[in-house]
Amino acid sequence: MLKGGKVGLRARHEDDIPILRAELYDDVVNSSRADSRPWRPITPGSDDARLVVDDTEQGNVPFSVVELDGGTLLGTATLWGIDLHNRSAHIGLGLLPSSRGKGYGTDVVAVLCHYGFVVRGLQRLQIETLSDNAAMLRSAERNGFVREGVLRSSAWVLGEFMDEVLLGLLVQDWKPDSKG
Ligand SMILES: CC(C)(COP(=O)(O)OP(=O)(O)OC[C@H]1O[C@@H](n2cnc3c(N)ncnc32)[C@H](O)[C@@H]1OP(=O)(O)O)[C@@H](O)C(=O)NCCC(=O)NCCS
Repeated sequence: MLKGGKVGLRARHEDDIPILRAELYDDVVNSSRADSRPWRPITPGSDDARLVVDDTEQGNVPFSVVELDGGTLLGTATLWGIDLHNRSAHIGLGLLPSSRGKGYGTDVVAVLCHYGFVVRGLQRLQIETLSDNAAMLRSAERNGFVREGVLRSSAWVLGEFMDEVLLGLLVQDWKPDSKG
């Protein structure tokens, strides 16, 4: 398990799946805002890649996020789009509603940076998020990500086009212990 100050990132367990389905993926508003693909229901028992991990998929590393003290499930975190030629990847995360706004997101980003830069030897990490997602923007910026651009009207979200912000962090600019 990868450990941050408050959270652990571990493999997806069978028991996580019904909780993630009910609290994250079946919430159409949350799913539509967090995923660029259109929302559609996930059939119980199916091996949908949003919930069930395919360990042979090399470009995508999904984690379940748990509280370090006690192991309570907090949400999901993913290093995705891993590009071993350009040594880059994207990060994404989604916390259960009751786990938001408590500092976990900032810690998850820090752990994903450690995984991307130290464990995987990448040199660039990228995040795309809706321009009104203040908590995601702040979680990224506190870990040193900088805003590199705005993708105007790039996301169709529940009846309207929204802007996305693209943030990047290079390994040489990463300060593992700073949360400035
Ligand atoms: C986005 C998300 C991962 C952030 O994690 P979080 O644990 O809620 O964020 P934190 O508690 O670490 O807060 C980070 C910062 O944002 C601020 N913040 C938190 N919630 C906020 C809100 N609703 N509005 C404005 N600022 C907020 C915090 O005060 C903190 O700022 P500070 O460091 O200056 O004190 C989480 O809210 C989430 O899962 N949201 C739904 C899914 C989602 O949007 N995923 C991202 C898709 S790209």
